[in-house]
Order: sequence, then structure tokens, then C-alpha cells
Amino acid sequence: MKKILITGGAGFIGSHVVRLFVTKYPNYHIFNLDALTYAGNLENIKDIESADNYTFVKGDIKDIPFINSLFAEHQFDGVIHLAAESHVDRSITNPNAFIETNVLGTANLLNAFRDSCNHNFEGKLFYHVSTDEVYGSLGKTGLFTETTPYDPQSPYAASKAASDHFVRAYGNTYKLPFVISNCSNNYGANQFPEKLIPLFINNIKNSKSLPVYGDGQYTRDWLFVEDHATAIDLIFHKGKVTETYNIGGFNEWTNLDLIHLLCKQLDEKLGNIKGTSEKLITFVKDRAGHDRRYAIDATKLNKELGWKPSVTFEEGLSKTIDWYLENEDWLKSVTSGAYKEYYEKMYG
Ligand code: NAD
Ligand code: DAU
Repeated sequence: MKKILITGGAGFIGSHVVRLFVTKYPNYHIFNLDALTYAGNLENIKDIESADNYTFVKGDIKDIPFINSLFAEHQFDGVIHLAAESHVDRSITNPNAFIETNVLGTANLLNAFRDSCNHNFEGKLFYHVSTDEVYGSLGKTGLFTETTPYDPQSPYAASKAASDHFVRAYGNTYKLPFVISNCSNNYGANQFPEKLIPLFINNIKNSKSLPVYGDGQYTRDWLFVEDHATAIDLIFHKGKVTETYNIGGFNEWTNLDLIHLLCKQLDEKLGNIKGTSEKLITFVKDRAGHDRRYAIDATKLNKELGWKPSVTFEEGLSKTIDWYLENEDWLKSVTSGAYKEYYEKMYG
């Protein structure tokens, strides 16, 4: 039985990846390593917690002795690394947390993986899950390809770019087999309500204002999280070692257009009078160093591995809203306590 370590599997994307691997691959034993920070929640993967081929390990990728002994004990065949500090706004207020987890934490995993393999990498793979933000910001036209030069603009993006460089450097120096994927903005069930879509769903439910940064004309390329998970599965199994794959939704929206669609769908689902939610839109101070536009060219993944998104944005958004409306307890539990303080500090 192959032993696969997934890091950050109690978070948003990681929980979807863990579920897919545990249910699809009964011949793998999946170890889910997560520190359960504010963004990690075991409720996200409650449905698979008693599966025979699944083990949860609570631990921090910053803890070198713990990471080394975990790898020495299990001699993992594969690592899919998602654990990270992931919110741009938090990286602006506390960049060091991003350097420590995203850069040093990744280096700790690479060292432990290399040493546990004892330089025999036959059948082994380190999969690093990264972001399109490493490429910086686009103008009105153009797309990020796998060869776009790195130009990270936020502390979060810089920390992810640095971690990508370390992965490639270990591939070059120690011949450690790796793949990297750089993905666009994800949305779907279980996303922590600090990110645009779940934050706005929660605010609309509670008739709170919708804080739009700057002029709202910033553009993102949105991908349904379950489609990201299937791309990761495909790249893990069929991707070429040492290659990079861009993952995106072929789906660009300005923030304002997206917010209008979200308001419309929510008004219909909540039985509100048309236009009710839009009245909550409030323009607020812009994010510092805000990247104007991201857009991914995912042709390589499509052509070489046959991947494409399974849902339209309208369908995916509708499913996402339904999930948040049906999982009120989840939303309430993650927005109590520390979230209130965060919200107050961010939005006043
Ligand atoms: P998330 O913030 O929802 O989850 C991160 C998870 O990592 C949490 O479960 C948290 O507890 C865990 N974690 C954080 N620090 C840790 C540490 N020191 N040790 C162990 N576990 C730790 O993040 P997400 O949105 O699911 O993103 C997952 C990965 O995908 C990240 O690497 C992120 O950079 C990347 N990514 C995210 C998006 C997106 O749109 N959300 C897009 C592209 C790439
Ligand atoms: O592109 C991939 C990245 O997408 C991931 O690597 C990050 O982990 C993920 O957080 C996401 O980053 P963004 O900064 O693009 O996502 P966020 O949801 O924070 O913001 C999306 C857009 O909405 C962005 O232009 C900022 C804007 N925004 C966000 C919030 C939270 C607002 O206008 N108001 C808000 O309150």
C-alpha cells in the first residue's frame, strides 16, 4: 500500500483533495498532516474520518524534529503539499507568519522527504501546490503561462514564489522528483469566510455591508475547488516530473461583475426582492499593492493531460451558495470567536 502525505488537508482545497484520494484510491493510505490553524477544520473532512485508509496527524510543518521523525517513521511514497498561510490581507498585516510557514515550512518538508528517501527516489514524488499570484499582475490583455517570469507583489505571493524556487532547487541539486502546479482563485464549499465569495455570502445572509476594495474592477480567474482537486489528481499520477502545470478556470470576472451575479443568485435563493443584496455594496479603501488582473492559460494541462473544468461559473457558484445556506452550523462555528476580532480589525 502506497503511503501518501497530504499537508493542509483540513483546509479548504486540501479537504477536497483528501476526500478525493481517500475515496478514489483504497490502495493508498492517506496521511493528512495539518496544524489546525484558524483556517483548518476537521469538520471539513468529517465524512471520511473513519475510512480504513486514512489517518489524521495534527502537527506543524514549522516543527523540524516532529517533521523529521514523521517522515523517518513512514517513508512516504508521495507528498502533496498544500499547507500554507493563504490569505493576502493577512500577509500584509503579518508577513513573517507567511515566511515561516510557506518558505521555511516547505523547506522542512523537502529536507525530511530527501533524507527519508536516502537519495533513492525511485517511485517517489513531491507535489507542491502553488498559486498564479507568483506571476504578479497582468495588464488588460495576456495570460499567465508556465514560462511567465515570476514577479510576486504581495508578501503572500513572495512566500509562495520562494517556496516554488526551493522545490525546483531541490529537484536540480538533489534530484528530488517534483511537480508544481500554479492555480487561479478557487471557490466552493468549506472556504473560510475571509476570502471574497464566502465573506460576501455570509454578509448578505446577515444583511451586512459588502466591502468592495478600490473601484471593484480587479479581475480574477475563478475555478470550482472540486475541479482543482481533479487536476491535482491527474498531475500527481500523469504529470511529468520536474514540470509545472498552470490550472485555471478559463473564467475571468471583475470583482464587481462577480458580486452582482452573487447578489442576484442569493436574492433568488433567499426569496428577496430583486436588488436587495446589491444595496449592501460599499466601496472601501483598496488593498495595499492590489494586483489588478490574474488570468491563467491552462492549455498545457488541457492538451497534455486532457483536463478541463466540469462546471460553468454560474453552476459552481449556485452549488457553493447552496452549500453555505445548508451548512449554517459550519458557518456559525467558524465566524465566532477569533473571526469577530479579525473582522473588526479588517473592516472596522
Ligand atoms: P486554507 O488557508 O484554507 O488552508 C490551509 C491549511 O493549512 C489549513 O488547514 C491550515 O490549518 C493548514 N496549515 C497552515 N499552516 C500550517 C502549518 N504551519 N503546519 C501545518 N498545517 C498548516 O488554504 P487553501 O485556500 O485551501 O489553500 C491551500 C493551498 O493552495 C495553499 O498552498 C495555497 O497557497 C494554494 N492555493 C490556493 C488558492 C485559493 O484560491 N484558495 C489558489 C491557488 C493555490
Ligand atoms: O489567485 C490565487 C489566489 O487567490 C490564492 O493563491 C490565494 O490563496 C487566494 O486567497 C486568492 O487570492 P485573492 O487575493 O485573489 O482572493 P480574495 O478572495 O482575498 O480576493 C479576491 C478579490 O476580491 C481581490 O481582488 C480582492 C477583492 N476583495 C477581497 C475581499 C476579501 C474585496 O474587494 N473585498 C474583500 O473584502
